[in-house]
Amino acid sequence: MSSLDVLTKAGSRVLVAPSILSADFARMGDECRATLEAGADLLHLDVMDGHFVPNLTMGPALCASLRKALPDVCLDVHLMVADPAKFIRPFAEAGASNFTFHIEVVPQPDKLAKQVRAAGMTAGLAINPPTDVSTILPWVSEFDLILIMSVNPGFSGQAFVPEVLEKARRVKPLLRPEQRLEVDGGVNATTAPRCIEAGIDVLVAASAIFGSPDYRTAIRSLRAARAAIGKGGNR
Ligand code: DX5
Ligand code: ZN
Repeated sequence: MSSLDVLTKAGSRVLVAPSILSADFARMGDECRATLEAGADLLHLDVMDGHFVPNLTMGPALCASLRKALPDVCLDVHLMVADPAKFIRPFAEAGASNFTFHIEVVPQPDKLAKQVRAAGMTAGLAINPPTDVSTILPWVSEFDLILIMSVNPGFSGQAFVPEVLEKARRVKPLLRPEQRLEVDGGVNATTAPRCIEAGIDVLVAASAIFGSPDYRTAIRSLRAARAAIGKGGNR
């Protein structure tokens, strides 16, 4: 399976994507390997520019190093930057699999989605908690992934904003089987079941995984959310 297929060919599986923002940066390769060995499906890279969000994190160089160390892994890059267009080529060259940018900075996002795909990546569209879901509905079919932010982006470890699940419920019926619906922010064993129930199929989690002493148990408890819902007869 190619690194792009992890997202597009997931079928009805719920995928777990550790956000490496909460990893130990001094041991990044080992941290990534450990989460993958513990059952993670892909890695989520939070790129921040100090303008769109009040924080600075990582860039294409880290992505390129991870691609070299982990040739087959799906690298899901989340651009929290004011001008995502200028980073399409650098991240494509760095081996990114998926490139997600925000509707708040690209209100007419179809052209950029095409450029992302032409560069060999899948394209994602993200929406912040205060932004109305109507801004993304016209564009959903143009993307491989829709990312519903469940915190105001910038930092890991914030509390989940449950109101955003209504957006997931609106978007889900519009998606084709190969499109993914991702949630990011405050996802843990308590909030994951509610996300899955709302139609989410990619769970991004930073502190719930890297803040745990046992990555396998942490990832399993996110996935267990699905089993719990199944038993409850909701799916
Ligand atoms: C938020 C980032 C998230 C963040 C999630 O700005 O986009 O990926 O790292 O962190 P947790 O899971 O701790 O809320
Ligand atoms: Zn993110």
